[in-house]
Amino acid sequence: MAQILIFLGPPGAGKGTQARVVARELGIPHVSTGDILREAARKKTSLGLAAKAKMDKGELVPDDVISPIVEERLSRPDCREGAILDGFPRTIAQAKFLDAMLERVGFGEPLVLNIQVATDSVIKRLTGRRTCQACGEIYNVYMNPPRHGGICDKDGGRLVQRADDNEEAIRIRLKAYEQDTLPLIDYYQRKNALRQVDGSGDPEAITGRLLSLVKTHDYL
Ligand code: AP5
Repeated sequence: MAQILIFLGPPGAGKGTQARVVARELGIPHVSTGDILREAARKKTSLGLAAKAKMDKGELVPDDVISPIVEERLSRPDCREGAILDGFPRTIAQAKFLDAMLERVGFGEPLVLNIQVATDSVIKRLTGRRTCQACGEIYNVYMNPPRHGGICDKDGGRLVQRADDNEEAIRIRLKAYEQDTLPLIDYYQRKNALRQVDGSGDPEAITGRLLSLVKTHDYL
């Protein structure tokens, strides 16, 4: 039965970094709501422009805006065998929406992998993050710098800093995480769907921990 993997964790936990690799490894799509919204903002759609105002400040976009976007994305044929959700759900209302949707389309219970990192390392990770404008590859000027400053190692694309990776927006994002997203840990723990993952140390070691949990769960 197709199943959704949910990568949970605070801003900067490494959800995007890990989801890109694990999705490739498992041969399923990586669905990042942040990436979808940023793409809409780049294209200047009405959704994108409204979302950008919220995102740049570090605030969540409304549940009734993001949930139908995820439903549409998960209903595409490439998600038939499963997908990794990165950045969704982020509120209890979104989690309930997802539960109802997965039941409707005949998916199993999601497996939720909660990536844990200390707050002080999160701030350094976020302020140092740079992303390739072309392929989305993620770097860090302190911990994982590109070989040539400002240029992607993979395709030579320009590396950019996200508008919400400044101290003020990071503070608001962390507050939104504590207020709206932390309750999901209890929500999924009660369903016995949550597994904790140590998100510190070498990224390859973290990928290994995630994949071994997925395999233990009989996902593959
Ligand atoms: P989103 O894009 O989802 O941002 P986020 O949750 O704040 O998470 P990040 O992307 O900042 O962190 P990450 O965990 O992916 O870390 P990464 O792998 O990049 O959302 C942005 C905004 O969109 C929200 O604020 C909201 O406005 C809106 N939005 C999105 N979804 C929404 C929803 N469902 N509801 C409402 N609003 C929504 O890593 C970070 C850095 O650390 C990188 O530089 C990386 O190289 C480095 N790094 C990663 N792993 C390691 C490691 N092991 N050691 C050292 N450095 C590492």
